[in-house]
Formats: sequence, C-alpha cells, structure tokens
Amino acid sequence: MCGVFGIVYSKETDKLGDSLIKGSRKLVYRGYDSAGFASFKEDGSTMLRKGPGMLEDIIKSKNISEFSGKRGIVQLRWATFGEPNEENSQPHYDSDKDIIGAHNGNIVNTEQLSEQFKAEGMTIRGTNDGEMVVHAYEKFYNQYHDMKKSMMKAQTLLKGDYAFVCGNTELDKLMAVKMGSSLYMGIGDDFILCSSDLGSILQFTRNIVFLKDGDLVIYDDHEYHIYDIHTGKDITRPPEECNIKIEEANLVGYDHYMIKEIHEQPKRVQELLNLLANSQQLVKNFIETLNQADHVYLVASGTSYHASIVGAYYLNHLAEIHAVPVLAGYFNEYYNISPTAKDVILCVSQSGETKDVINVINPILHNTSAKIISMVNVTGSSIAQKSELVLNVSAGLETSVPATKSYTNQLFTFLYVAALAGKMKNLDKANEIFTQLEKIPGLIQETIDTVKEECEDIAALLVKRDSDLYCLGYGIQYGTALEGALKIKEVYYKHCEGMYSSEFKHGPLSIVDKNYPILFPASPADDHMVISHINEIMVRKGNVIVISPQYKGYAKAASRVVVVPDSDHYFVPFSTVVVLQLIAYYASILAGLNPDFPRNISKTLTVD
Ligand code: F6R
Repeated sequence: MCGVFGIVYSKETDKLGDSLIKGSRKLVYRGYDSAGFASFKEDGSTMLRKGPGMLEDIIKSKNISEFSGKRGIVQLRWATFGEPNEENSQPHYDSDKDIIGAHNGNIVNTEQLSEQFKAEGMTIRGTNDGEMVVHAYEKFYNQYHDMKKSMMKAQTLLKGDYAFVCGNTELDKLMAVKMGSSLYMGIGDDFILCSSDLGSILQFTRNIVFLKDGDLVIYDDHEYHIYDIHTGKDITRPPEECNIKIEEANLVGYDHYMIKEIHEQPKRVQELLNLLANSQQLVKNFIETLNQADHVYLVASGTSYHASIVGAYYLNHLAEIHAVPVLAGYFNEYYNISPTAKDVILCVSQSGETKDVINVINPILHNTSAKIISMVNVTGSSIAQKSELVLNVSAGLETSVPATKSYTNQLFTFLYVAALAGKMKNLDKANEIFTQLEKIPGLIQETIDTVKEECEDIAALLVKRDSDLYCLGYGIQYGTALEGALKIKEVYYKHCEGMYSSEFKHGPLSIVDKNYPILFPASPADDHMVISHINEIMVRKGNVIVISPQYKGYAKAASRVVVVPDSDHYFVPFSTVVVLQLIAYYASILAGLNPDFPRNISKTLTVD
C-alpha cells in the first residue's frame, strides 16, 4: 500500500514543486518508508528524486520545492516488494528513461515478470512491484506508441490489484488506471489531477470524478477521457461537486496526534450522538436491514475488528440481532458459503480502503445478492462507495497511525444502533441504555481526567520490566482486551497478547512467574468469571492489574485496580479502553518512540 498523485498543468510552472509537496503531505498516512517526486518539462527533460525515509526529510534533502514543469507525479511508499531503498522507491523510470510511473497496490507476479522483462532486454533497477507496471507499459508502448492500447495490453500481464499513474516524455498527458485500489480525479481551472486520496485532491478542487475499477484515464490540463481497460470502450462520467469537509491536521499544543486524539474522544462521541439523532431515517433503514437478515457478519480488520467484537455483543444482547464478528482476512475461507439475499455483510473500517475488507465485498458484489452495508470514517472511500447503506462514524481526521477516536466512535455507533433497535422491539434494557447514551462523552472525559497519573505509573512499570505481557478480557471486554494489546504492541513494540480470559488457563498460564504483568479490563457485572481468572494468575504470583469501575471483589483479588468512573455495564468498554490507550501512549514515550508513526506500518492498508 502506498499513495500516488499525478497532476498536469496548462503550462510549465514553478508551482509544480509546491503542488506536489501539498499533495504528498496528504498521502503520508498511506506509507512513510520512502517518497519520490518526478516532473516532466516541456523541453522533454525530466526530474526524478526519491529515496527511503520520512517525507519531510526527503522534501528538504532533495529540494523538492525547486521542481518545475508541466506534469508531475508523487508516490509515498509502504514497502511490500523490495526493501525501502532508493531503487525500490517510486516513481520508476522505464529502461530508456522516457516513461515515469508509480503505483499503489500489489503485483503478485513480480518475480516472474522481472525475469521475463530482463530476458526481453529491459533495464530492471530494483525489486519493487511498481517497477513491473512501468515495464509492462514500456513493453507495449515501444510497439504501439499509443497510451491506451499499450496499457490495455500491459494490464493483461499484471496480476494483482493496483492504481497506476504514468507519463511519457513525448506526450503532453498523464495516464491513470484504477484496478482495485482507490483513485480519484479532480478537475481544476488550469489543471487535472488523479490521486489515491480524495482529501489530497480537495485541497485543489471540489470538481471530482469518482473513478471505478477497470477505468483507464488519459488526461491533460483541460480534458480527460475514460476508457474501459478491458474493452477500450469510451466511458462518459462528468465531474461532481464534492462537499466533503477536509480537516487539517493540527497538534494544537499536544506533543503527539495520538494523545491529542485520545483527548478528543468525548467531543467526537458527542458530535456523533448529535449526528445520529439527526439521521434517524438512515439509522432506521440500517436497523431494518439488520433485522431482516438471516445472518449478520461484521467484517473488519485490526482495531475495527475489535470494535466489531464489542459491537456484536451490543447487537446480540441489546437488540437480539445475531451478529457474528469475522476477521476480514478469513471471511472468504470460513464464512462465505453462498451468502443469500438475506445475509448482511456489515463492513467496519476507519479508512474505508482496507484491502482485506474489499476482498470480501468484491466477490459478493459480483456473485451473490447479499447486502453490503458499512460503517466508515472516511466519506467517499471505496468501501462506502460499494455499500448500499453507510453510517459515517464521524470521528474526524485521524492523523496518528494507531486508531483511538475512530475506535470509540465505532463502538458508539454500534451501541446507538443496538440500543435503538432494541428499543424499537420494546426490550427493557435497550430502552434504558438508549436514554442514557448522552452520559458517554462525560464518562470518557472523567476517565481521562482521573487516570492519567496511574497510566503513566503503569507504563513506567512495564517499561522497567521490559518483558512481554498479556491483556485479558471476558464477556463484553474481550474486544477491549484485544484492542489494548494491539495498541501496546503497535506503539511500544513489545509483545502483548490479547486473549479471552477463560482461554488463559489452557496453556498460556505457564508463562506466569513472579510479577508477570497482566492487564485485565473488566466489568463488575462479569465478576463470577473474572474473579476465578484473576485468582488463577495471582496464586502463581503474577501481577494482575484490573481496569474496572470501583468493585470490592476485584480490589481484593488483584494486585492493583485502575478505577474508572462508575457506569452501566454496557458503557464500561468506553472508559476502560481509554486507560489502555493511555498506558500504550506513555509506554511508547518512555521507550523513546514516536507513537504517531510506528515503524513498519501504515494507516491505510490497501494490500493483501
Ligand atoms: C491499529 C489500526 C489498524 C486498523 C486496521 C484496519 O491502531 O489502526 O489495526 O484498524 O488496519 O483499518 P481500517 O479500520 O481502516 O479498515
């Protein structure tokens, strides 16, 4: 996964460098291993500067602001094929350096193509799959000297999903292709551009063409042509005015986006509550779709999967909707047995671009009549576009790579839908919960205000011990435990395993020795099981730190309790996850790491 951006101006301009930098800054969440910038000048010369490292360092060290030209391409990379080094950074030249192109996605037959192209005499400089797209195009361009025909032929050699932007020195145009990865086009007064990220375009223009898989676009500064890449047929698709509001990232006095976004949670939940209250028809349609289903699958990855686990608890317990959380990556292997029109696939994704989720959606769209609905945080994202109904979790721009506020807003969306669905069925508990939802922003705020020092203290204890650890959860708290463990791994780089607490005795218990750390987010309502699970560890001298509202039973059984404000059982996942987010954040800081950009990962995973 990566991000591409390609712009054509009406004439050679000094502002090209600044425009490419502006575009690239909005793509950095998609990959920050390497970055590269290319420009085409009217005299046929080109510039290409690229390398491994963080975007801002590359912009500075390679003087990108001095780029001029009429056409330019940027790529931000998250390495899959080939280590992050200069050769593997994108964009790439073709053999003769008169074509430059960059991709986002995966070309799975890279090794075989590389051998083939070498044997055909082409110059292969690295091991990156994006380079194969450039050479596949080169192969046919040298034969046909026609952009459209060459790319139509090239795509038949390429196995995988990708988006691609490229240009030739001898033509005054760029070409872009959308084959399974996101790509949008923006039409300006004196330019046209394509980009993997809608927000990067909206800084330039609100005149947007939503590209579809299989689109091949050839564009200059004032005109574009879209073709079906398989048949070559013309496609007419006029631009639409896009009113999506783009937030600017701003630290406003915080040291990191992660801590800023943790603090933003009460406000974002409040805004979401107001929005849902004003979108009753949409929410009711959503509920009706869930109610009519034979099976409801909550399909997601990572943090969104953890929210779906808690969401499944809410839907089952509060609304009697039998929802099953399924990891997107294994849905097709274990669950996708002829879904029918009465099955509902509820996709949950912050970015709305996650490839594992799209891999679930695409075959359903092509082969069955099951309904696809979704909860996303990014309006206009690929998953949203492919869904019949979309609830936007409205957490706002999440800049830090680790998800925090999008997780709590996903939880809140699930809770709202479940409570309203249960209320519509006259279920008592749902009625009660629905009238108390407005307490949640205050609950999160009070938690943040009261636990900070204790979280710092626990983080210091973990960093001092410098070992792996577990995060256990039971019942409603299973998703919280997995999420806490993920946050700790992601930003503190220590192995923290999240586990259903009743599983711990089935093997992992052997890891416990004196003071072995175990975090245990818990609800007092589950004490019948949780106390046994704590005892099993404590009698073996482990160090169990429970995170729960005040409760004598836990205070007596565990080494320590981080007390969160008292609340209904259904609200405990909101307060306790905040404690785990803070512990992870402080552990990361104490270990001298940057929690906003953890090594090796990226905010949007558009690859398999
Ligand atoms: C972790 C994190 C990831 C994402 C996962 C799915 O903090 O953010 O685990 O949750 O990559 O991404 P989305 O939600 O965009 O589908």
